[in-house]
Amino acid sequence: MKKKTTTKKPARKSVKANKKKMLVTGGAGFIGHHLVRELIDQGHDVIVVDIFAEGDKPERMIKKAKYTRVDMRDTAKLAKLCKGVDTVFHTAAIPRVPYSIEHPFETSDVNIMGTVSVLDAAAKAGVRRVVYSASGSAYGMQETLPLHEDMPANPVNPYGLQKYVGELKAKLWADLYGIETVSLRYFNVYGPGIDPHGPYALAVGAFLLARKEGRPITIFGDGTITRDYTHVDDVVRANILAAKSKKVGKGEVINIGAGRRMTIQALAEMFGGKIRYAAPRVEAKHSEADNRRAKELLDWEPTITLEEGIEQLKKEWGLS
Ligand SMILES: NC(=O)c1ccc[n+]([C@@H]2O[C@H](COP(=O)([O-])OP(=O)(O)OC[C@H]3O[C@@H](n4cnc5c(N)ncnc54)[C@H](O)[C@@H]3O)[C@@H](O)[C@H]2O)c1
Repeated sequence: MKKKTTTKKPARKSVKANKKKMLVTGGAGFIGHHLVRELIDQGHDVIVVDIFAEGDKPERMIKKAKYTRVDMRDTAKLAKLCKGVDTVFHTAAIPRVPYSIEHPFETSDVNIMGTVSVLDAAAKAGVRRVVYSASGSAYGMQETLPLHEDMPANPVNPYGLQKYVGELKAKLWADLYGIETVSLRYFNVYGPGIDPHGPYALAVGAFLLARKEGRPITIFGDGTITRDYTHVDDVVRANILAAKSKKVGKGEVINIGAGRRMTIQALAEMFGGKIRYAAPRVEAKHSEADNRRAKELLDWEPTITLEEGIEQLKKEWGLS
């Protein structure tokens, strides 16, 4: 007769040994909820701080995560929630360019003062590290490509400026208050769960909805602007690596982008169907990340091509 073996699975054990308390601001958002899911899957305790600005979305609620309906600008409440937290992933923001042009005060308050509040609360509560969701929009108008972190920021709209100020704050908090910080400049993030609704929807979401409803896709401008589309799974992995890396913590700024630019026209054509053109928006003409620093400091590289990512989305939406 065969002897019964009682060997325990080592993998599960090692995850538990590293179990930490993590806090995600904006954890009910597009990028935030993917991050929360990954942290839960890795065995961590996760607290979400969010005001559910876009309404409650049950499909974004991750089992086992603890959700708190708290405005991140309430520093006292946030500091209490930060007690015993290892890493704060700060993704909360009002991340829409046109909205920031129409509402410069409101978006400055949330995107800048909200970030100050998160840094202050985290530092006071003794959090080890804050990983800040920065944005490639800080580059704005530049003479050359690809965009490298040493180029001076030159934002062309309130949102880009606000996200850039957040990086400066994060650096200052590391210098002055001793909390570890790192800023990840994401480039046009897309993937499952992207919000397709409303006048401020990001291109990939808006294109999906237009095709689903049989409407023409709308391009703002003549279609020649370029963007560097980055899959949300790659962005989540960058966050996890940024929380762990021993090479960061002093407010470093790191591009998280696929490193390949694509015209908005070419992107629209990947979805098929008719295209209509509307007045251009106030935004940078071209964007492409130099992602060598991410490799060097985080050992991060993009793994999902735009073709793979869009095909996956089209399947999910029943478009292919
Ligand atoms: N999506 C992109 O392409 C992209 C690119 C570059 C940078 N970013 C940055 O990544 C982060 C996440 O972006 P996203 O696309 O997931 O945005 P999102 O709008 O889907 O999520 C943002 C979340 O923040 C929450 N929030 C807003 N104000 C808050 C407040 N005062 N207190 C607490 N929560 C608040 C919202 O309710 C929402 O759930 C943002 O900081 C954004 O600037 C995104």
